[in-house]
Amino acid sequence: MTDTNSGGLVVFDHPLIRHKMTRLRNIETDYRQFRSTLAQIAGLMVYEVTRSFETETFVVTTPVADTTGHRVRGSITVVPVLRAGLGMIDGILEVMPEARVGHVGLARDEQTLEPMTYLCKLPADLDSGPVVLVDPMLATGGSASAAVRLLRDAGAKDLRMICLVASPEGIARMRRDHPDVRIYAAALDERLNDKGYIVPGLGDAGDRMYGTT
Ligand code: PRP
Ligand code: URA
Repeated sequence: MTDTNSGGLVVFDHPLIRHKMTRLRNIETDYRQFRSTLAQIAGLMVYEVTRSFETETFVVTTPVADTTGHRVRGSITVVPVLRAGLGMIDGILEVMPEARVGHVGLARDEQTLEPMTYLCKLPADLDSGPVVLVDPMLATGGSASAAVRLLRDAGAKDLRMICLVASPEGIARMRRDHPDVRIYAAALDERLNDKGYIVPGLGDAGDRMYGTT
């Protein structure tokens, strides 16, 4: 389902994801379709993203016999970066309803492209299990890097990130700042433009999702 490259980056190479990503990129796609498609892609990615979760065994009793059961070790926490990351949560929780949800609010200053934190609400015991950072766009990487720093300061140890569109610049920034955080991307695009938008990208994910363009 995926192409695994070196350096902790997994770029999905699946027909259904490519099909749905094309719908997201299309300027003709309205916010209702955009929202539902984005959630669907996030849900499809969960299967591969969770492959690295540690499990523990326990004895489970079937109607016939005792056998070895498996469960994910600790509590899973998914953390969307507001606003756009919120749009991926429904799709993720559909396949992983046991996850807790923390929230990080970051807004990128359009002039400096630096992220500003306006919300951070996380479970107290983030170190008790895997943490998945969720944001559809990895552009300069400033927001993702700041979000990982917040999560680490809050105790997170076992971290990975899901994004839909990544830029080479964003990947390089994350490799530099947080080399241990594996990134799962539905697509790796060409570059950033002079406004910090991903090319070809899909535009402003938050605005397209919430109809605020
Ligand atoms: C977008 C996106 C990321 C960030 C990526 O959010 O959802 O959080 O930009 O850019 P970066 O990699 O250069 O930091 P934005 O700041 O536009 O906020 P929004 O989701 O509220 O629209
Ligand atoms: N944020 C977005 O929503 N889109 C981009 O292309 C870059 C940052």
